[in-house]
Amino acid sequence: MTIPQDTRKDELRNLAAKIQDAVENYAQGKAKNSSDIIKLCQDLQYRSESPEVFAERLRYQPLDICALMIAVEGGILQALSSRGDDTTADQLAELTNRPRLHIVRVLRLLTAIGVCDEIGFQLYRANDKTPVVASKGQIGGFRVCSIPACAITTNIAEYFSKYPNETTAEGAPRSAYSYTYGKDMYDYLRENKDRKADFDAYMEARKKDKQRRWHHVYPVMSELASNGDVSATTIVDVGGSRGHDLESFLESNPEFNGSLILQDLPETVEPIMGEKRVFKAMAHDFFRPQPIKGARLYLLLAVLHNWEDAECGIILRNLAEAMKPGYSRLLVSGMLVPEVDAGRLTAELDMQMWLLQHSRQRTKREIEELMGAAGLEIMKIWENGDRESIIEVQAREK
Ligand SMILES: C[S@@+](CC[C@H](N)C(=O)[O-])C[C@H]1O[C@@H](n2cnc3c(N)ncnc32)[C@H](O)[C@@H]1O
Repeated sequence: MTIPQDTRKDELRNLAAKIQDAVENYAQGKAKNSSDIIKLCQDLQYRSESPEVFAERLRYQPLDICALMIAVEGGILQALSSRGDDTTADQLAELTNRPRLHIVRVLRLLTAIGVCDEIGFQLYRANDKTPVVASKGQIGGFRVCSIPACAITTNIAEYFSKYPNETTAEGAPRSAYSYTYGKDMYDYLRENKDRKADFDAYMEARKKDKQRRWHHVYPVMSELASNGDVSATTIVDVGGSRGHDLESFLESNPEFNGSLILQDLPETVEPIMGEKRVFKAMAHDFFRPQPIKGARLYLLLAVLHNWEDAECGIILRNLAEAMKPGYSRLLVSGMLVPEVDAGRLTAELDMQMWLLQHSRQRTKREIEELMGAAGLEIMKIWENGDRESIIEVQAREK
């Protein structure tokens, strides 16, 4: 299908005008974030490209990740970032012990995609993105998300030809990840301490850019006040990684002097057991009965998307059993997939869950079904745009 030139030009003019409006809204503080601008700019790019240029861009996209990994594993971006000054390729070569030509070639691509700036002949400068991309947590994310996605891609055709219906086949691996790595993701992480540390660092880092963290989306102290003073109650973060969500809650609500309990797998919590933290850490498998009964608040943040429906059912029933009806609340965070017109990030995260863990991001209707089947009822959904929303849940009377 070929689009007539005049129609294409009109489309581009329309989009450019919409971008102008979106920028104005953002500049005047009428838009919460820049997501409209990003979406419109992406549309403008796609529609400006001829189909061949469009295909060409898709074809070479994996090389962005390849260049990025050469740069971060070789310490090139870290060196550029920590100098904080104009830096030549020769200086970077000396700092990183890498051939100058490698640096020039890798940074040629990374400057073209905005990771850092090229300000002259073989002369570079970090921009606002560079230190974040070169940080421990983000590098962890590239290692545990992007690298597996690339590895899975190498044999994706073979996997789907062997298992067209995936896990329903006899002896099928749980996911494309399990097919590629020979084990499920959390088993792989348990056996590979460096990758597990990457995963945990990434879990924390990905929360840093949240314009609205869980306790901003759900104002805990005022919402729960109707049932007595919240400050002396118990909050349990189930599958809470190394406790970053409890720590940030307390930073924002220093008047809370109740009990904060972190639960996660032994390999997650054991490294921090001896440390002085604002919460009590305990190893707990959420597929087993919840040992803390009748807490005021249970958190289940970014957990359900890791699991299939039957597994989510077990996790939720264990919580429903522990909750005191009319008193305990459960906050579940997750990206709600719109039934039409899901954004790119939502669709990408859904693909990631599918391929890495044979699980998925869910629509509001799917979440409602899961909750209902586990004896829980949704009180309110605290929407958070294209970020993780908070679903407030209570246990039904038994
Ligand atoms: C996607 S992470 C989310 C972490 C954290 N809640 C957050 O939002 O940043 C899922 C967490 O579930 C933990 N997890 C996986 N299996 C578990 C299990 N069987 N019992 C308890 N925690 C588990 C993982 O170790 C990981 O910390």
